[in-house]
Amino acid sequence: MTVLVTGGAGFIGSHTCVELLEHGHEVIVVDDFSNSSPTALTRVDEAAGRPVTALYEGDLRNESLLERVFAHHEIDAVIHFAAKKAVGESVDIPLEYYDINVSATTVLLRTMLAHGVDKLVFSSSCSIYGQTETVPLGESEPAAPTNPYARSKWFCENIIADACRRYPQLNAVALRYFNPVGAHSSGLLGEDPAGVPNNVMPYMMQVAIGRRAELQVFGGDYATEDGTCVRDYIHVMDVADGHRVALEKLGTGFDVFNLGTGVGTSVLGLVRAFEEACGVSIPHRIVERRAGDVPKLIADPTRVADAWGWRTTRDLPTMVRDAWGFQRLNPYGYETLALESA
Ligand code: UD1
Repeated sequence: MTVLVTGGAGFIGSHTCVELLEHGHEVIVVDDFSNSSPTALTRVDEAAGRPVTALYEGDLRNESLLERVFAHHEIDAVIHFAAKKAVGESVDIPLEYYDINVSATTVLLRTMLAHGVDKLVFSSSCSIYGQTETVPLGESEPAAPTNPYARSKWFCENIIADACRRYPQLNAVALRYFNPVGAHSSGLLGEDPAGVPNNVMPYMMQVAIGRRAELQVFGGDYATEDGTCVRDYIHVMDVADGHRVALEKLGTGFDVFNLGTGVGTSVLGLVRAFEEACGVSIPHRIVERRAGDVPKLIADPTRVADAWGWRTTRDLPTMVRDAWGFQRLNPYGYETLALESA
């Protein structure tokens, strides 16, 4: 297949490009590099041993850009990652989030329909379940997003579902990921957030490499085994694999699937797993809870297993080892070489 990957230079996008290339697909990327580096795509070519077919730099809301992409390539399917994704920022600039995340999706759908492209895999998030206490979480749990980022993902899911109802030729799936972490096993690709990382894994990696003094563990008094929040961490290459399989298994109409392992790990459990697997200690300290965190989020991954026979294959030690592999080779992320030669 020839697959258009929007946001293909981002964390999950770049790993998915490698997965697609390794399985013989042609890959076209559109990315505006607002929160990603062009270097990620050079690394994709290197890791996969063959290059992406074409790269277009620009904003998906630019209809003439998308028109050009669809006119130049015989696209069979689209994987739509491009979006803004920081929860706190989405509360500060909600209109930008709706504009970028939602408008881009409607422009993309319109252009796909105009060009007879009828397969879409959409990057959604477990954050649409909101402040739930259900463990594990199945897809039938009602959506109750609590911030503009999560609401933008939920709106997009609904827009895509409506489009599938109206245009029966359109087939789409939304994948709701739990907590993607890790990196490509080569160490060439990984997570490289701009500024201070919001998420625990990239923050912990920057502590491990000595860029930050300690990890603050947000809250030690939750009703969990050790008092710290529990999450379902999933290896980014399993997430990438899930997208490739989604393209191959895509049914008719619209569907949603959780992507998770079904295994919960506490923040202290994650620290311990890293220390044991990588032999590096992580100075850490328990501090106040972070507003908005739920004690426990764990996927029920049985629906996707039943539908596609798909399940994750990489365990927590592999996740932390691969994340560390990327961090060690790229202590300052993709800009490391530029910094070293400056
Ligand atoms: C976050 C997003 C979620 C998104 C997901 C993608 C928020 C509120 N939610 O989920 O929308 O889909 O990332 O991976 O941002 N923690 C620390 N110290 C830190 C950072 C985090 O203890 O420096 C803790 C948090 O309190 C939480 C756990 O680590 O219990 C995981 O946090 P994080 O990596 O930010 O992911 P989520 O909040 O689960």
